[in-house]
Amino acid sequence: MKFAIRPLKLPMDYSRIAELFNSIYFDVNTGDDLENADKHIPLEDNLRTDEYGNITGFCRIRVVAVNENDNVIGFAQAWLAPWFKGGKLSSHVIVDSRFYSHGIGKALYLHLENWARSKNASSIQTELKDHLPYALPFVKELGFAVRKHNRYSSLTMEHVRDEPFKHIFPTFKGQGIQFHTLKDEREKADFDMGKLYELYKTTYTDIPGEEAPQYTYEEWKKKVEQTDPELIIVACDQDRYVGISHLQFRQRGNYLWHEYTGVDRSFRRRNIALALKLLSVEKARQLGAERLITSNSILNEPMINLNNKLGYTRIPGHYVIEKCLTLR
Ligand SMILES: CC(C)(COP(=O)(O)OP(=O)(O)OC[C@H]1O[C@@H](n2cnc3c(N)ncnc32)[C@H](O)[C@@H]1OP(=O)(O)O)[C@@H](O)C(=O)NCCC(=O)NCCS
Repeated sequence: MKFAIRPLKLPMDYSRIAELFNSIYFDVNTGDDLENADKHIPLEDNLRTDEYGNITGFCRIRVVAVNENDNVIGFAQAWLAPWFKGGKLSSHVIVDSRFYSHGIGKALYLHLENWARSKNASSIQTELKDHLPYALPFVKELGFAVRKHNRYSSLTMEHVRDEPFKHIFPTFKGQGIQFHTLKDEREKADFDMGKLYELYKTTYTDIPGEEAPQYTYEEWKKKVEQTDPELIIVACDQDRYVGISHLQFRQRGNYLWHEYTGVDRSFRRRNIALALKLLSVEKARQLGAERLITSNSILNEPMINLNNKLGYTRIPGHYVIEKCLTLR
């Protein structure tokens, strides 16, 4: 099949690019969303080299693959944001599934890679759907390494299995464990966001394969502040935070997203995470969400077991793959 790679024609290409994103992600975007998002992104690259010799600052490339009639059948972008570390670029490559196995994805990756090399990037990272039979051979052929494998799980409201576990709530009274929302906590005079971050930080590194928290305090605080405080549920042992469930309602896709769940190490195996998940299901019901969705490392046995118990089923996830560009 004949195809070509060309720069974007804007605003014409926005709506097709939005369709391609919608074909693989749960959030529903429109061409207008992409156009509005673009208004906040610089037009020009602005790169320098840091003290370790890595590029830092901002750069971005976006291209589409088109057929002979100039119809968009694939999209690829790679970018460096000022907060990325070590000169490592992120990227997306999406091919219309009707045109898989024609070499389009490979051509788009190689296009990004050549551009990344021209910018002296140290590596390029992307996500690849794990249900595609050729995902791993493709990774190998292009010289990528698998950094993570995240599985997704979905729980539609009609498949929730919560009745068998509702008896656990009265047992927390005797243990002195209480559940509140962040909205409740914020109203307390001695509320300390830093204490909640500590819980996030110390539990995050217990996720198999994670060595450091994903977010600094400032980044995490911003994320929390962007969340409806009724959708952050905490478990408290008196004035100590011992569990957190951070949820986000994605209205367009009508689902509740589990951003994070964590329980203090010394309070584990006491059904606290189970209770947080049951309360999350209640939130989903109140919001009229169709389902709850979560992503976990394939190695995270505790979380996967817990999700299975409640009726979550596995849906396609993704490999996070990275190619080092400093070795030739
Ligand atoms: C995953 C985590 C939240 C579980 O918290 P918890 O309060 O100990 O879990 P619960 O006591 O509610 O356990 C409920 C069920 O989960 C499963 N489970 C929990 N811990 C488990 C473990 N270590 N091994 C296997 N299954 C486990 C079991 O099915 C358990 O039911 P059971 O006790 O009847 O067998 C906790 O281990 C944690 O904070 N881990 C680090 C952070 C993390 O991985 N978060 C998820 C990424 S978003």
